[in-house]
Amino acid sequence: MNDYTPGPESGLPPIRATLEGIESSRIREVSDIGMTMEGVTPLWFGESDMTTPDFVREAAAASIAKGETFYSSNAGIPELRRTLAKYESGLRSREIGPERIVVTISGMSAIMLAMETFLEAGDNAIVHTPIWPNCIQTVRIMGAEARLIKLDDGPEGWTLDLDKLFAMADERTRAIFINSPNNPTGWTASAEDQARLLEFARARGIWIIADEVYTRLSYESERAPSFLDIAKPDDPLVVVNSFSKNWCMTGWRLGWMVAPEPLVDTFTKLVEFNFSCAPVFVQRAGIAAVEQGEDFVAETKALYRRNRDMVYQRLAAIDGVRMANPPGAFYAFIGVDGMADSLAVAKRILMEQKVGLAPGSAFGPGGEGHLRLCFAVQSDKLSAALDRLAASLEAGVV
Ligand SMILES: Cc1ncc(COP(=O)(O)O)c(C=O)c1O
Repeated sequence: MNDYTPGPESGLPPIRATLEGIESSRIREVSDIGMTMEGVTPLWFGESDMTTPDFVREAAAASIAKGETFYSSNAGIPELRRTLAKYESGLRSREIGPERIVVTISGMSAIMLAMETFLEAGDNAIVHTPIWPNCIQTVRIMGAEARLIKLDDGPEGWTLDLDKLFAMADERTRAIFINSPNNPTGWTASAEDQARLLEFARARGIWIIADEVYTRLSYESERAPSFLDIAKPDDPLVVVNSFSKNWCMTGWRLGWMVAPEPLVDTFTKLVEFNFSCAPVFVQRAGIAAVEQGEDFVAETKALYRRNRDMVYQRLAAIDGVRMANPPGAFYAFIGVDGMADSLAVAKRILMEQKVGLAPGSAFGPGGEGHLRLCFAVQSDKLSAALDRLAASLEAGVV
């Protein structure tokens, strides 16, 4: 089979046909315009407006000053793998050893490594939506089918019908992707949901890729339930995590995964052929973040909780607005009655109110009709942006 498509009209050689169907992110369609404008409050990306804490930056600076500028081991420097193993074991109710940790250059790259490991053309992976678009597109980049199941949107919030999900699996299903707490809805899988998913995956020989980058951001408990709380070391489970959200390190590009030990060799090999290793000075910063960052994680979570409640109180009461207070992550996913083109509305709100939001349509089926707002910013800035956004919504922006 010819998997190549003729090159563009420029006369360049062919590229993989699979890539023709890959859309660029619609979040960028709004932010690309907004970034050229003055006075915009950007709430479109999934990041805080706080710079990385000093103790993290200082650790990286010290490492550079020491001359740690060389290649290092594929799976991560032993000190960081040990630190992460201790961190995970402390959070979960069981021991997780460093031999199960692979350091990556972001949560994003961990997701891509998992897709490269499990999927090829003809396979499928089940992914719930709305979801961060990258979780769908990485399946498609592998030439596999993304089987999308919509979360149900009720007055009490979002839920996932597991029986429906199980019925979608067939003999070519290689992975189930679960992002909890979820970007953009905040949906958070219960421990019972996770137990059922794990049991199904074990029985059917299907991998679970659990994206737990928001696991510390649960507003209903100390932290969200994790598959790692209940999984055995040899379960078909890969858990993706990131330094971006907990320690305000989006620009550093550092993440990790927890995998069954026999799979770590495969991931380590793939790290070599993707990015070879994470920079050592970034890994040193990661160690400082984990070892000294608990107060920072607690303070930022308290800020996000206050912000979350402010968004809910300010917007949920507006006529035509539908939203439940999200139980996790740091986004409000705002349903607006009658809105059929969230991209156009996000652009209009940007031009008229200088508030930068992400269109719900960027997040796959079930996302249209919504706008995503990231509330991980300083409260006064958020409050002023909410005044302007509320004015648009009250005036019936759709
Ligand atoms: C659900 C989810 N997974 C993974 C990531 C990846 O984060 P990073 O690549 O910055 O580690 C994000 C970032 O927004 C996300 O929302």
